Amino acid sequence: MTQSTSSVANGDEAPRGLWSSRLAFILAVTGSSVGLGNVWKFPYITGENGGGAFVLVYLICIAVIGIPILMAEVFLGRNGRHNPITSVRLVAERNLASPLWRITAIIGMIAAFVILSFYSMIGGWAAAYVGHGAVGDFAGAGPEAINGMFSALLASPAELLLWHSLFMALVVLVVSQGLKKGLERSVTILMPALFVLLLIAVGYAATTGHFGEAVNFLFRPNFDKLTINGVLIALGHAFFTLSLGMAIMMAYGSYLGRDVSIGRTAVIVGVTDTAVALLAGLAIFPVVFANGLEAGAGPGLIFQTLPLAFGQMPLGSLFGTLFFILLVFAAWTSAISLLEPVVEWVEEKTTLGRSGSAMLVGFLCWALGIVSILSLNLWSDVTPLGMIERFEGKTLFDLLDYFTANVMLPLSGMLTALFVGWCVARECLEHDLGLKGGAFAVWYNLIRFATPLAVAVVFVYNLL
Ligand code: TRP
Repeated sequence: MTQSTSSVANGDEAPRGLWSSRLAFILAVTGSSVGLGNVWKFPYITGENGGGAFVLVYLICIAVIGIPILMAEVFLGRNGRHNPITSVRLVAERNLASPLWRITAIIGMIAAFVILSFYSMIGGWAAAYVGHGAVGDFAGAGPEAINGMFSALLASPAELLLWHSLFMALVVLVVSQGLKKGLERSVTILMPALFVLLLIAVGYAATTGHFGEAVNFLFRPNFDKLTINGVLIALGHAFFTLSLGMAIMMAYGSYLGRDVSIGRTAVIVGVTDTAVALLAGLAIFPVVFANGLEAGAGPGLIFQTLPLAFGQMPLGSLFGTLFFILLVFAAWTSAISLLEPVVEWVEEKTTLGRSGSAMLVGFLCWALGIVSILSLNLWSDVTPLGMIERFEGKTLFDLLDYFTANVMLPLSGMLTALFVGWCVARECLEHDLGLKGGAFAVWYNLIRFATPLAVAVVFVYNLL
């Protein structure tokens, strides 16, 4: 992203490009936030954590922690008008706070790098399923055939590597060219299309006769099944699904026009993201129950259920293929936003230029992804923290996922909340967020007290 030479107080008339409209910004942020987290991760962690109570905690985390932090991150970006690390430093300077607050952006960048390494592998699974759908593998296939297809994919390092490489190449391609135009255009078409296909899948699921069971599973809380670790996972996922704790929203916010209300925009994005996740749950769980599958099947859940549904419905091969194509696109727009901050930083610190930096970071990330690929087959018995009860049986891939999503993102988010809530002048926030009276007071108290406290309590409980 371009550097401005002068740092105009409050960022007005910053000499860098802006999004072409408020809608373009909303779409870019939605493109980043709606991804594998909604369609792949949310259903499977809900299944693993027993349903309703977990969903309730997740919804509370989105409303009380996620959306307020989303506002704080966009605020920091728009107020600083630079790359995330510089923006935080500038806002800190203007408010006479320590420049060390930059640490939030740094933790976030490391997390982004690690998340992308396995995100690309999962994006590769989705790409592989585009192929399966296109050649008609779903048509009429029963649970066993579908399970076999998935196990065969995971058992083959070569096949996984092929799809992982393809996916990462797509991401590097876009990022190396700079992302504004391509991103704006693609999300305008793809996000609504994904929404429509999800609705079709939900429509089909409603005909399986197990829709009521799925609604119960998702929305009737049974607190017996909720563990404190489950609460941490719900919290971590609220960050993951909204792309928080990683400076992405700061980067995007730095291009946002002054006339846009940050508060309203953040609510729109949060609600859309949550709607996609819940729709995915409503599409998947009826099929799970109708076919006697295991709700807690883990990361393979959607790959073992949706093909079954597509295999039974008219024109299922067509819809199935389309669905996985869109999943790849959703994953792609998110993955771009994961690569962007690190590339921006390398570009600034080296002489490699935009595409050289994108290739270097993409390559390193691709290489780290091989660890996750091998965790599924050759290294499936390698469980380095297996002696700790909670991590029993967790492979390297599971651990990378756990520590980034459930530790690093919440930690970085908490620091952001503390910085914005306690170090930035209240008038400045009031002026910038565009929230009126009561709404501002609610947000201000959430960001100062509720958010940091909630993250801290969940962390401490988990250490005990
Ligand atoms: N939010 C994306 C998803 O749900 C993943 C993602 C993209 C992300 N950018 C991020 C997660 C930044 C954390 C931080 O699939």
